[in-house]
Amino acid sequence: MKVFLLAVLCLSAHTVVCRLSISGDHFYEGSTRVFLSGVNAAWVYLGTDFGNNQLDSYRLSKYTDYIKQVQSNGGNSIRIFVHDNCETTPDIDSNGITQGPDKSGTLISDLKKILDVAETNNVLVFFALFNGAQKKTDHWKLQGIIADDNKRQKYIEMALQPMVKALGNHKALGGWDIMNEMEGIIKVEAHAGDSCFDTSFLLKSGAGFAGATYSAQDLQRFLNHLANGIKQADSAALITSGSWNPISNTDMFGSQNLYNDSCLRKAGGKQQGVLSFYSTHTYAKADTCQCHYDNISPFHGAGHHKSDYGLDKPLVIAEFSEKKGDGWTASQQFNHAYYYGYAGAWGWQYKQESSDADEDTAAVINAGLQFLKGKTDASNGGTVNFHL
Ligand SMILES: *[C@@H]1O[C@H](CO)[C@@H](O)[C@H](O)[C@H]1NC(C)=O
Repeated sequence: MKVFLLAVLCLSAHTVVCRLSISGDHFYEGSTRVFLSGVNAAWVYLGTDFGNNQLDSYRLSKYTDYIKQVQSNGGNSIRIFVHDNCETTPDIDSNGITQGPDKSGTLISDLKKILDVAETNNVLVFFALFNGAQKKTDHWKLQGIIADDNKRQKYIEMALQPMVKALGNHKALGGWDIMNEMEGIIKVEAHAGDSCFDTSFLLKSGAGFAGATYSAQDLQRFLNHLANGIKQADSAALITSGSWNPISNTDMFGSQNLYNDSCLRKAGGKQQGVLSFYSTHTYAKADTCQCHYDNISPFHGAGHHKSDYGLDKPLVIAEFSEKKGDGWTASQQFNHAYYYGYAGAWGWQYKQESSDADEDTAAVINAGLQFLKGKTDASNGGTVNFHL
């Protein structure tokens, strides 16, 4: 009903921008159910692409090329990293206090340039703000935002909300991914008082791989407050936070969904500080000699259906590769996501100079995108190619 009303509004009032929305387990453009088929084009130079006049003609031409390739191969969405470890944005002073989006005042206009190219090509952009998968020298700035209430609030007011207000009405903005793989910096510890904050189920999972620094509650409070800040600035914004493995994003399989609404609210106290959809990453492990997927992976064995995770929101498989795919081709992976209840699939990753062992080349991911090109099956994934 909500979706239908929105569609009517979109057609009748030109001032209303039709944005990606969610109903139940699926995404919609107007009243059309859509499947997010796309790629990570996470960076040209990680942490130094946007703001401070850094989006030069080389970087912009690379992102333009990525977006055009997604479009021409039949994809519709792209995931891009923004602050990473706060190497260059936001503008944080020596006391850890955020002064603005960036020093030179170009962060917002740089992101808008990307969105403008994306809109022309009918591609949706998802901005991943921070990164928990790597702890770098600049991490102390991010540490303040995660763990200090005052510093977090300054980031929200001085950088996050200005970005969200300026970009929230852009048709090509798909949503905000608050932190890539927070499990990299999570502490594995028992918490007898509350299952939301007990991470002992992550023992031996590899969680804490970037340096176990924060309790689950610290990270959940950070997510809750940032999500709340985004919603205050744009009530229709779509929000996720990419989990490193579905193990911490589901209550099934004897696991615990650290991202569920009640846990985020319990940690941070903000009623509207919850995620709009879930997104998770999955790779066959290199450290197991056969390189198999773990048994919770969407691609384990013959593959899990989205319903196996018992989640009450859409689920995007937001990182995966054929290279670490245990014999699954990219086409099979995209196909599985489309037909088995997921709301999207984003291959890792598009950066073509890449020589990282985890990463697929653009050509490999493009074969996966082409597999879903033009699909409109409303009883499975939905429409893949749409006009913004
Ligand atoms: C979220 O997880 C907590 C802790 O396991 C649980 O008590 C609660 O019922 C879950 N909430 C939802 C909405 O699934």
